[in-house]
Amino acid sequence: SAATVAGYKAAAAKAAIDLVKPGMRLGLGTGTTAAPFVEEVGARVREGLEVICVPTSEATRAHAAALNIPLTTLDDTPHLDLTVDGADEIDDQLRLIKGGGGALLREKIVATASERMVVIADDSKLSKTLGSHPLPIEVVRFGLNPTMLLIQALAAEAGCEGEIRLRRGEGDRPFVTDQGNLIVDCAFPRIAEPEVLAFALARVPGVVEHGLFLGLCDMAIVAGANGVKIYRH
Ligand code: A5P
Repeated sequence: SAATVAGYKAAAAKAAIDLVKPGMRLGLGTGTTAAPFVEEVGARVREGLEVICVPTSEATRAHAAALNIPLTTLDDTPHLDLTVDGADEIDDQLRLIKGGGGALLREKIVATASERMVVIADDSKLSKTLGSHPLPIEVVRFGLNPTMLLIQALAAEAGCEGEIRLRRGEGDRPFVTDQGNLIVDCAFPRIAEPEVLAFALARVPGVVEHGLFLGLCDMAIVAGANGVKIYRH
């Protein structure tokens, strides 16, 4: 049930707070799993923990600010010690699909600026082969149609075929990211070679970034019916 899954997300978030040490520079993730982690950080800050944080979205910025978590930017603090974020899908090599919430670009910039990236999740996010969740791709508005066609063609060459659609938000208007871009969701049912697909997508000029996080995640903290499990390389 939804309540059970929320409990797993909270359990993973609680386990991750043990990785946070005084003085750390932290990246704060986005989504319904990262949110309880932000709450945990807020509770520790209230108790006197000194950390400084970079949020991965405007939503997380507002949440963290409401909890009086000290915030900074990557311009002032270009190196972070640890980022804790959720994911839409995690495979057994800790490759991820992210961006279900539309924050993938800032999330990837923050994760890349971090010494370590830890993913927290409930065990429904684990998968043998990526692709059960549609792959979000952030694109610029200009030339949307040719960009989508090129994504389709190059993805097919990389072995991935499936429906590609523009994400819609409120009132059926296109969903707009924090960076003012659009998201296309690619239902590729089986991404057998994520590195090959990532390389193909990088060749599309209108693609700003995609939701494949490869070689970024160091550890996954995954909660389920049998408790919390840690996955590492
Ligand atoms: C936000 O853009 C995403 O990358 C989230 O991290 C991801 O969608 C996981 O979100 P939930 O924790 O809400 O499932």
